[in-house]
Amino acid sequence: MSEHSGHSVAIVGTGSYLPSKVLTNDDLSKIIDTTDEWIQSRTGICERRIAADDEATSDMCAVAATRALEQAGVAAEEVGLIIVATVTPDMVFPSTACFVQHKIGASNAFCFDIEAACSGFLFSLDTARRFLDGGSVETALVIGGEKLSTVTDWEDRATCVLFGDGAGAAVLQRKTNNGRGILESVAGSDGGLAHLLNIPGGGSRNPTTKETIDQRLQYMKMAGNEVFKHAVRCMCDAATKVLEKANLTWDDVTWVVPHQANMRIINAIANRFDGNIDKFCINLNRYGNMSGASVPVALDESVRDGRIKPGDIVLFVAFGGGFTWGATVMEWGHGK
Ligand code: ACO
Repeated sequence: MSEHSGHSVAIVGTGSYLPSKVLTNDDLSKIIDTTDEWIQSRTGICERRIAADDEATSDMCAVAATRALEQAGVAAEEVGLIIVATVTPDMVFPSTACFVQHKIGASNAFCFDIEAACSGFLFSLDTARRFLDGGSVETALVIGGEKLSTVTDWEDRATCVLFGDGAGAAVLQRKTNNGRGILESVAGSDGGLAHLLNIPGGGSRNPTTKETIDQRLQYMKMAGNEVFKHAVRCMCDAATKVLEKANLTWDDVTWVVPHQANMRIINAIANRFDGNIDKFCINLNRYGNMSGASVPVALDESVRDGRIKPGDIVLFVAFGGGFTWGATVMEWGHGK
């Protein structure tokens, strides 16, 4: 709940966009040494979407944002802040959020990106909430968008089966109608474990050269087993902490919208609590891991298909490179 009594910050619209090209596990088995059986049993992923060559992250984000604004009944000119969570920006700078602003005509917004890998959408949600809570912004757009196909090493079977492209968006507003909206958030990071999941090339540490390209440093590297263990522990801890902070229990939670990295991670989280996997909103079988886009796309689908309803307690939880992790709990849906 807001630190200031009498108002709350609510999500008043959601939207998403998935590129039309589908890449199935069987398609992958034709280009690398893998099988549909291995991928499904180790990850739960069946297929993922791949953006077109001329489709950048901001293009996907702009469509998701427009759909979210339409659902909210909010004009682009009303948006005061745009935050894009991404590890695959259109360019190093300017921010992808600036490109989105221009595409959707949100001329009154100030714009920046947040880089927190798979936790990026939750970090952005919490950041936007504080601008709204403080009163300097009335309406914010928070978007998670990724074109991970451009940083995926298609010769590395241990990672290339995991990722996909897409974008999801949420419109946030401050409300004064006694709804509860976003209740609490927690977030954490451990830069000491950055080496377990990263893209080593292309930044100031290893600027792009012929050598870095020959070494394939422009692609994601991941120590899958290590990441797996930390992901389960950090997401369980974050979920526990945010519920405690909100004075809620696991039984109060209607829906969990988790980061979608691996079905075994999601099952492990469910088993740590009441074992009820049915209250998790899951789409990784269709889209794989879309990093910052995973949570908002799963949210939008669950709102649009009628699963998430007003009054529901919704728990978001995520983990990603950095390491970063976070959780947010909210009461869904008051005041469009
Ligand atoms: N097809 C067939 N075999 C494969 C494949 C593949 N696609 N990939 C790996 N293998 C093989 C390995 O070579 C290995 O063979 P070996 O035993 O002969 O050496 C064997 O399968 C087992 O490999 P592991 O890496 O131990 O497999 P694991 O069960 O750990 O699954 C996975 C790997 C899916 C990556 C898992 O570790 C995982 O999901 N990790 C977490 C990912 C995550 O949470 N990411 C979150 C953040 S992502 C972000 O921030 C961008």
